[in-house]
Amino acid sequence: MKKIKVAVAGLGRIGKIHLNNLCRNIVGIEVVAVMDVVEESAKIADEYGVSLFFGNFDELIVLEELDAVVICSPTDTHADQVIKAARAGKHIFCEKPLDLSLDRVMEVLKVIEECDVQLMLGFNRRFDPDFEKIHEMVFNDSVGDPQIIKITSRDPGPPPLSYIKVSGGIFLDMAIHDFDMARYISGKEVEEVFAAGAVKVDPGIGDDGDFDTAVITLIFEDNTLAVIDNSRKAVYGYDQRLEVFGSKGMACADNNYPNNHKLFTQEGMSGDLPLHFFLERYQESYQKEMKQFIEALVNGNAMPVGAKDGLMSIVIGLAATKSAKEKRPVKISEILR
Ligand SMILES: NC(=O)c1ccc[n+]([C@@H]2O[C@H](COP(=O)([O-])OP(=O)(O)OC[C@H]3O[C@@H](n4cnc5c(N)ncnc54)[C@H](O)[C@@H]3O)[C@@H](O)[C@H]2O)c1
Repeated sequence: MKKIKVAVAGLGRIGKIHLNNLCRNIVGIEVVAVMDVVEESAKIADEYGVSLFFGNFDELIVLEELDAVVICSPTDTHADQVIKAARAGKHIFCEKPLDLSLDRVMEVLKVIEECDVQLMLGFNRRFDPDFEKIHEMVFNDSVGDPQIIKITSRDPGPPPLSYIKVSGGIFLDMAIHDFDMARYISGKEVEEVFAAGAVKVDPGIGDDGDFDTAVITLIFEDNTLAVIDNSRKAVYGYDQRLEVFGSKGMACADNNYPNNHKLFTQEGMSGDLPLHFFLERYQESYQKEMKQFIEALVNGNAMPVGAKDGLMSIVIGLAATKSAKEKRPVKISEILR
C-alpha cells in the first residue's frame, strides 16, 4: 500500500511531539519534510532523518509528493497556513485554535469545504484513556443523565509572555481544551457562558488585558451545567481532573502520577507530584490522536475531531472572553449569529 507522505510545520514544543510520534510510533507513513522559520531547527530534521527542511511554508506546501501537513506553528499563523495547504490539495492536522477571529475561522472552513480536503483539530485530550473511559460511561448510561461536569485544568507554570501575547488569551489558548472536553463528554452544545477572570500569577499577563486565573460556567442546551477552573500556575504540577455527576452516579478521573507510592509517617502522608506537564501527562493521547489522523486518511473516514469541533471551541472561547471582560453571562447566539 502507498505510504502517506506527511510534513510537520513548526518545530516547537508540540511540533516536536508530533514529529516524534510520526517518525517513531506510527507505521505506514513517511515524514518527507519539516519546516520552521528558525534555521536552527534544521538540526531536528537531521535528528529524525527527514531529508527536506524548509524555512518557508510556501515552499513546503507545493511539494508534489506531500499528502498531508501537520501544522504546529504559532496560533496567529494557523489560518493562513491551513488555507494555503487546502488550496494545494493537502490534508491537514492543525493545532488548536484555528484562529482567534470568528470571521477568519468561517473563511478557513469555507476553503476546506471548497477544496475537499480533510481537517483535524488537535484536541488531544479526547484520546486520553481515562477521559475516553468517562466518555464511554456517559454514553453507555452508567452515570445516567449528566447533570454537572467539573473540569480542573491548571498548568504548572505560564508560558513566556511572548507566547501569551499571540495566544488569544486564557480562554482561547488554555480553556479551549476544556470547552472541547465539556462538549465531547456531554455530546451536547453549549448555549450560554459565564466566565470570571483574575490576574493572580503574573502581573505581566494582565498588562495586555489577559487573565491567568479563571472560573467558567457553561450551560448546555439541555440545562446540563459545567464548571471549569483554570490557572496558569499550580505549584504542585499539571492538575488535570474531570468529573461527571449524573442521575445514576458519578464518574471521575484523577491526575496521573509517575508512580503510586505513598509514605505515611507520624508527621503525615506524602507521595509523588502529578506528571509535570502536557508532554508527560498526555504523551499517550498525542500518539493516539496522530494515529487516528493517519487512519482516517488511509481509510477515507471522517476525522475524529473535525471542523465543527474547531469552530465551536472558538465560539465558546470568544463568549468566555466577552463574558469575563463585560462581567455578564453571554449567550452563544451573541457570538455565532
Ligand atoms: N494540543 C496541545 O496540547 C498543545 C500544546 C501546546 C501548544 N499547542 C498549540 O500549538 C501551537 C504551537 O505551540 P508551541 O507551544 O509548540 O509553541 P512554540 O513557541 O514552542 O513553537 C512554535 C514553533 O513554530 C515556529 N514558527 C514561528 N513562526 C512560524 C511559521 N510562520 N511557520 C512555521 N513555524 C513557525 C517557531 O520557530 C517555533 O519553533 C499553538 O497554536 C498552541 O496553541 C497545542
